[in-house]
Amino acid sequence: MNRKVTVVGAGNVGATLAQRIADRELADVVLIDIIEGMPQGKGLDMRQATPVEGSDSRVIGTNDYAETAGSEVVVITAGIARKPGMSRDDLLNTNFKIVKECTENVVRHSPNAVLVVVSNPLDAMAQVAHKVSGFPKRRVFGMAGVLDSARMRTFIAMELGVSVENVSAFVLGGHGDTMVPLPRYSTVAGVPITELLPPDRVEAIVKRTAGGGAEIVGLLKTGSAYYAPSSATAEMVDAVLKDKHKILPCACYLEGEFGISGLYVGVPAQLGAPGVEKIWEIKLTDTERAALHKSAAAVKELVGVLKL
Ligand SMILES: NC(=O)c1ccc[n+]([C@@H]2O[C@H](COP(=O)([O-])OP(=O)(O)OC[C@H]3O[C@@H](n4cnc5c(N)ncnc54)[C@H](O)[C@@H]3O)[C@@H](O)[C@H]2O)c1
Repeated sequence: MNRKVTVVGAGNVGATLAQRIADRELADVVLIDIIEGMPQGKGLDMRQATPVEGSDSRVIGTNDYAETAGSEVVVITAGIARKPGMSRDDLLNTNFKIVKECTENVVRHSPNAVLVVVSNPLDAMAQVAHKVSGFPKRRVFGMAGVLDSARMRTFIAMELGVSVENVSAFVLGGHGDTMVPLPRYSTVAGVPITELLPPDRVEAIVKRTAGGGAEIVGLLKTGSAYYAPSSATAEMVDAVLKDKHKILPCACYLEGEFGISGLYVGVPAQLGAPGVEKIWEIKLTDTERAALHKSAAAVKELVGVLKL
């Protein structure tokens, strides 16, 4: 195998993502972190799982960006995570410096890579990576919508007692308290949940989805979610590596779509080998559109603080 994916940040999300990519034999994986020895140890441990998992992905851990050279996809998970009582926005200044530094190092060694940003606050960090890399917008996007939609799918399946595979859901907007779950576009075997559940149950699912990350932070107490976030990121990496033309909600740079400009916001995007091939401008009601604009305004305020 000679396709290469780099995961920057070998913490909870990064290491779990590296493991998922290796287990699925999607590519060779380079796991990089600033902590000496830790990515090397995790990388070697994962490599030793490959004979049992039946995968020939070569996983290595490193502190040296030279090892990441020529990566097709680079995922940035470096940065601090939330603790109880913190919002994603509280991470802004610390993660800005980290994501900036990581992006500069990444582009030097993998100038043609597709960059997937995971570090929070997600939409602002995607904007940082886009600006610092100088890459075209199609090659820089953020993971949030796939995770938020997976949470909503889980809650719908739990509510109705059906297979998660029958459920699809759509969550747009920024990855924060103002995210926009869209019940009208969330379906069970093709039927919108608005036809299957009373309004108060739909509202409860929407609310639990928007607070899905905080619910886990409150339970873990020492960090934030990483199993579902790494699954969601792996789906996006898979769509790019396999050129699937798959429509997934991603944080994309908008230039007029949905009436929003110059900002990263979660929208339905078609992912393939070039990155974002197309943004699907689905029809929104006035209420949904207003909620998306409110969410975009919250992202704009954060980005404004950074003075990019
Ligand atoms: N977008 C999403 O939906 C989503 C979901 C979950 C987590 N996150 C975010 O992802 C990030 C990582 O979360 P986590 O749980 O893995 O945290 P973590 O603390 O377990 O891991 C972060 C890792 O980043 C490393 N790091 C710090 N500075 C670095 C640098 N300059 N270069 C390389 N590595 C560096 C740290 O050493 C650490 O190993 C957080 O910002 C978190 O908020 C986003």
